Amino acid sequence: MTAPAPLPTRFTEMVGIEYPIVQTGMGWVSGPSLTAATANAGGLGILASATMTFDELEFAIKKTKSLTAKPFGVNLRADATDAAERVDLMIREGVKVASFALAPKQELIAKLKDNGLVVVPSIGAAKHAVKVASWGADAVIVQGGEGGGHTGPVATTLLLPSVIDALGGGDGPTSIPVIAAGGFFDGRGLVAALAYGADGVAMGTRFLLTSDSAVPDSVKQEYLQRGLNDTVVSLKVDGMPHRVLRTDLVNALESGSRVKALVAAARNASEFKQLTGMRWTSMLRDGAAMKKSGERTWQQIIMAGNTPMLLKAGLVDGNTDAGVLASGQVVGMIDDLPSCQELIDSIMTQAHARLAALGQIAG
Ligand SMILES: Cc1cc2nc3c(=O)[nH]c(=O)nc-3n(C[C@H](O)[C@H](O)[C@H](O)COP(=O)(O)O)c2cc1C
Repeated sequence: MTAPAPLPTRFTEMVGIEYPIVQTGMGWVSGPSLTAATANAGGLGILASATMTFDELEFAIKKTKSLTAKPFGVNLRADATDAAERVDLMIREGVKVASFALAPKQELIAKLKDNGLVVVPSIGAAKHAVKVASWGADAVIVQGGEGGGHTGPVATTLLLPSVIDALGGGDGPTSIPVIAAGGFFDGRGLVAALAYGADGVAMGTRFLLTSDSAVPDSVKQEYLQRGLNDTVVSLKVDGMPHRVLRTDLVNALESGSRVKALVAAARNASEFKQLTGMRWTSMLRDGAAMKKSGERTWQQIIMAGNTPMLLKAGLVDGNTDAGVLASGQVVGMIDDLPSCQELIDSIMTQAHARLAALGQIAG
């Protein structure tokens, strides 16, 4: 099959890719194989680094470079204690794109840009888009509430135009390209995002559910069985709104009964301790430090300390009972596991068909 025609936008030109499709940085999910497969299929793949040590990130970048000659990105947490060293590593290794999970720091943006990287923070509100644009961000990813992982309350259909308007869009181009995320999975969604004035789409859950993602097959099957109503935004996992698959653990945490939730958190921590070999004393010490620094309940503290490991238990080790499985609502629209190449080809084929049909309506 011949490859679908490219679909150039300001974003594809900026990062040097063929199609305006981004595979987002997902902790424990987007490693070298997924990122390189996306890049080789003409999209932008992003390595997730928040769940990697510095050495693991260095290895992952080198491994990705061995699997693709095309541009790719790295997702960073600006509040990581070694964020500056990670930025130096990305510069040294010639990574093309820096994506930020939470608010980026102005000085990190400047350093990355001075060294030729394209800086693309993820944001969840129009005012944050305006702020990072004024700090020199090259583009933004806007994640609407239906998206997986940490998420906000406003749906993509309203958040996206609000961000586009705030960046001077409306009927003209935005001051910097906007990439729409949250709920996308096919060519219709891509064309809809372009119609709003975006320069592309970014997808998490859809790329998790490809044959190129390293998530265990049993876990992928768990996702495939779920419908549109099977995710929940829980504050109880780590104190921040987190969209996850509805599981027994999440139901118990959400039950409203403080005792039940505390027992569920404690039982989970205990299973967890066995899984990770973590000592109670160090878990309690971490919890006490968190309790001091914020308003969280003990139940949230117990869960928060474990959250990265809870996600690992589900997404890497395949323990769907003890783990937390981040997911967008879009999981309910997905029932297959294509390769990244098949996925991107089918999205682009459908997008070109929709654009042609719209062209006919427009006359
Ligand atoms: C399993 C999973 C892990 C995620 N981990 C991260 C992360 O480490 N950093 C980040 O910026 N976003 C993370 N996200 C959010 C995604 O990058 C993306 O914004 C979101 O999945 C888009 O919504 P969609 O799932 O509807 O495509 C994660 C999402 C999922 C589903």
